[in-house]
Amino acid sequence: MALALAFESSCDETGVALVEDGRRVLAAPLYSQLSEHRPYGGIVPEYASRAHLEKFTLLLAEVLRQYPLKHGDLSYVAATTRPGLVGALLVGYQTALACARHFGVPLIGVHHLEAHLAAVSLSGTSLPYPHLGLILSGGNSAIYLLRAPGEVQVLGDTLDDAAGEALDKAAQILGLGYPGGPAIENAAKRYAETRGIKTGDESVLESENPFPHILKSLPRNEIRFSFSGIKTALLRAAEVTDRNKEFFAFHYQERIVAHIVRNLEHAVAQHPNLPVVAAGGVLANTRLRSELEKLCRGKQTPLHVPELRYCTDNAAMVAAAAHLYYTRGIASKFSVISSSSSFLADAAAGQG
Ligand code: KG4
Repeated sequence: MALALAFESSCDETGVALVEDGRRVLAAPLYSQLSEHRPYGGIVPEYASRAHLEKFTLLLAEVLRQYPLKHGDLSYVAATTRPGLVGALLVGYQTALACARHFGVPLIGVHHLEAHLAAVSLSGTSLPYPHLGLILSGGNSAIYLLRAPGEVQVLGDTLDDAAGEALDKAAQILGLGYPGGPAIENAAKRYAETRGIKTGDESVLESENPFPHILKSLPRNEIRFSFSGIKTALLRAAEVTDRNKEFFAFHYQERIVAHIVRNLEHAVAQHPNLPVVAAGGVLANTRLRSELEKLCRGKQTPLHVPELRYCTDNAAMVAAAAHLYYTRGIASKFSVISSSSSFLADAAAGQG
């Protein structure tokens, strides 16, 4: 049995977790900084670092109260090292380093995007290799080919914004609040209800959609995300028409979901025998999850998505990712803090 203590602080969630064998979560207290950032309509990096600094001690104390760890109990400590807000990452990393030194165990640096994918292990599914990884979060929208832990090829990235960012901005434009993803999803559901549309039948309103299809003529052999055009289209449309917020939220979400599904369809066509793992905060969206499930069912492609509670940032997924390295006895390539989402090895010496 391998017991891990893990830390997450890449953005605005402060998380500590105690996880057995990369899958059994014993404790995972999480502090969401939403209320700190809400007045600004987005994340203020310095406030995020300060909140991590205050909350890590409290969360760690909570875990240790429940599980008074002794020397010899822990196998390793894990912390997110990239990508993320550098100040925020440093706070989590330093806390993790102090714990690793105290317990005399190794510290495994974890790539945040790999952690999102590894979150499927927390519901008992071993992360299959190789696999296609679809990541949709507040800062990233991309599809990867993952051959082994740390061996990652980008199949397609975003040309501009990330999906979560596009939803957050849309909610801001429509005055629906922050964070935007859940606000847009709820407004879209309200619209569907008022129109008497059942879940799964949303496409019957396609002809009323005021927004253009995203990257309509993207060739099948290309994978590219783009969300800035539709954001501008929403801004313009909301200025000149008096349709209600729910109408815009519904059709905006439909376009975004269709764009993501089409990109995944291209990736599956290029790699027909690989299972798909889809993760990141935007996967909390039930409309998106159901369309991805429909696509993969049709293509007879296994699809793995983390449980809803592990879709958004948390420390249990950090332990799950670190476990991939620990069990294989390979050094993590991500031992140095960086804002970059690159999967290339750290340039600095002393990796792992
Ligand atoms: O992965 P995550 O927790 O943090 C990052 O690493 O970015 O993702 C946060 C993003 C935000 O943009 C948020 O609006 C979006 O995930 N999100 C959602 C939903 N819940 C969170 N997007 C769509 N539907 C949701 N239900």
